[in-house]
Amino acid sequence: MFEIKSSRFFEEKCRIGDKWCDADDSSVIEITNPATQQVIGTVPKVGARETARAIEVASVQGKEWASRTAKERHGLLKKWFSLIIDNQDELGQILVTEQGKPLAEAVKEVAYGASFIEWFAEEGRRAYGDIIPSGIPNTEIRVTKEPVGVVGIIIPWNFPSAMISRKVGAALAAGCSCVIKPAELTPYSAIALIKLAEEAGIPPGILNLVTGDPQVIGKELTTNPIVKKLSFTGSTAVGKLIMQQCSSTVKKVSLELGGNAPFIVFEDADLDAAVDGLMVSKFRNSGQTCVCANRIFVQAAIYDKFLAKLKQAVAKLIPGDGMADGSTQGPLINEQAVVKVEKHIQDMLDRGGKLVCGGKRHELGGTFFEPTIISEVQIGSLPCHEETFGPVAPLYKFATEEEAVTMANNTQYGLSAYFYSSDLERVQRVSSSLEDGIIGVNCGIISNEVSPFGGVKESGIGREGSKYGLDEYLNIKYTLFQYKAQNIKRRI
Ligand code: SIN
Repeated sequence: MFEIKSSRFFEEKCRIGDKWCDADDSSVIEITNPATQQVIGTVPKVGARETARAIEVASVQGKEWASRTAKERHGLLKKWFSLIIDNQDELGQILVTEQGKPLAEAVKEVAYGASFIEWFAEEGRRAYGDIIPSGIPNTEIRVTKEPVGVVGIIIPWNFPSAMISRKVGAALAAGCSCVIKPAELTPYSAIALIKLAEEAGIPPGILNLVTGDPQVIGKELTTNPIVKKLSFTGSTAVGKLIMQQCSSTVKKVSLELGGNAPFIVFEDADLDAAVDGLMVSKFRNSGQTCVCANRIFVQAAIYDKFLAKLKQAVAKLIPGDGMADGSTQGPLINEQAVVKVEKHIQDMLDRGGKLVCGGKRHELGGTFFEPTIISEVQIGSLPCHEETFGPVAPLYKFATEEEAVTMANNTQYGLSAYFYSSDLERVQRVSSSLEDGIIGVNCGIISNEVSPFGGVKESGIGREGSKYGLDEYLNIKYTLFQYKAQNIKRRI
C-alpha cells in the first residue's frame, strides 16, 4: 500500500530559496485524505512576512534566470518534463492521497500537467519579436519580448498538479521566477513538482512555495510591488477580489475562473457519442472541474432515448477510494462541497425536476456522493446560475436551436460549451453563437497543451497553454533606433 510519508517527494515544509522552512511561529495546517478523512501530514501556516521573503528571493534569483538563453531554459524544462513522466505513478499516488480522484485519472493529470512543461520548453525558444517597417528615414522599429519578472501563482485543489505545470511551465520558459501558493487542501503535489524541478537543475529560488491561509498569502502576493504578474485559477468571487487587490500596483493578471458549461444534444446527434462525451465531461474528477457540463440541454425528440442511454452509463460508475481497483468516482473534496451539491439537487427537485438516479450521499460515507441524474429540470434552478461542482447531471428539455443557444448563453459565465450535432450548417451556426472561450463540437474533453484555455465574460482573463499562453508572462518592448543624427519631424 502506498504510504505518502515514505515517498521521497514528501515534505511538510515551504520552499524559499534553497531552504525548506517552517512558519516563523511554527504553526501548521493539517492535510487530510478526503477518501478516509485521515490526517496525512501537515504543512506550515505561513503569513505575509514569509511570503514577502519568498518574493524577495524570487526577485533576486530571477534576474539570473531571466539572463539565461531560451535554449538553456528549454533544456532544463525538458529535463523536468522527463523526470515528471519517469515518476508519473508515484506523483499520481501522492495526488490521489491528498485530492481523492481515482489513480488512473491522477496519473493522467500528472502527464497532462507535464505536457505543458514540454510545450512551453519549446515555445520559449520561439518568443519572437518583430522589426516593423518604419515610416521615418534611417530608423528601425524593434519589438522584443521580455519576462515580466516575479509571478505570484495561486492554485486550486481540483487539479493540484496540472494547474501548477500549466502556469509555471509558461512562466519559467518566459524567464520569470515564481512564488506558488498551492491550495491549502492539496500542497503535496506542488512540493513534489518543485523537488523534481530542482533535481532537473532549475536553480533554487526560481520556484518558491508558501502554504497557509489563502487570504493572508493572497493579499501579500497581490499587493507586493515586486510581484509583476498574478496567475490564479479558482472561483469568480475570489478572482474579482484578486483583480481588485492587484489594481493597487497595476499587475498583469491571468484569471481562470468559474464556468457554467452548457452541453447541448441536438436531435441529429450521434446519441452514443453524446453520452460518452457527457460522461467524461460531467463525471471526470467527480464533476469537480470548471469545464464540466453543468447544464445539459436535450432536444425534445430524442430526450427520452438520450436519458435512457445516460442512465445506463451512469449505473456503471463505481464510487470508491481513488486507490481502490476499479473505482471511477472519488469523494468530493470536503463537507462544504457535499452541502452545495445537496442544495442544488433539492432546489431542482423543489422546482419540479425528477430524480432519475442517485441524489444522496453514498453509503461509503464521508464525502462520497452518488452519481446523480435529474430530468425535467426547470430554467431558473440553481445550476442555471452557478457551478454545482459535483457528480450531478441536470437535464433540461428544449424545442428549437434558437431556444437552446439562448438558454446556453444565459449566464454570466463563458468558459466552455459543448454540443453534439451531425448537421454541418448547424455546427457552424451554433459554434459561432455560443459565448464561451472554448467550444467542444462532438467531443467532451477539450483540454490539451496546444490549445488556448480560458474564458470570456466572468470566467476570466487570459489564456493558458498554446502559443498564446507564453505571452501572458512577457512584456512587449518597442525600441526606436535612429541610425543617423537627424531631427524627426513631429507629426503630432
Ligand atoms: C479546471 O477545472 O480548472 C481545469 C480543467 C482542465 O484543465 O481540463
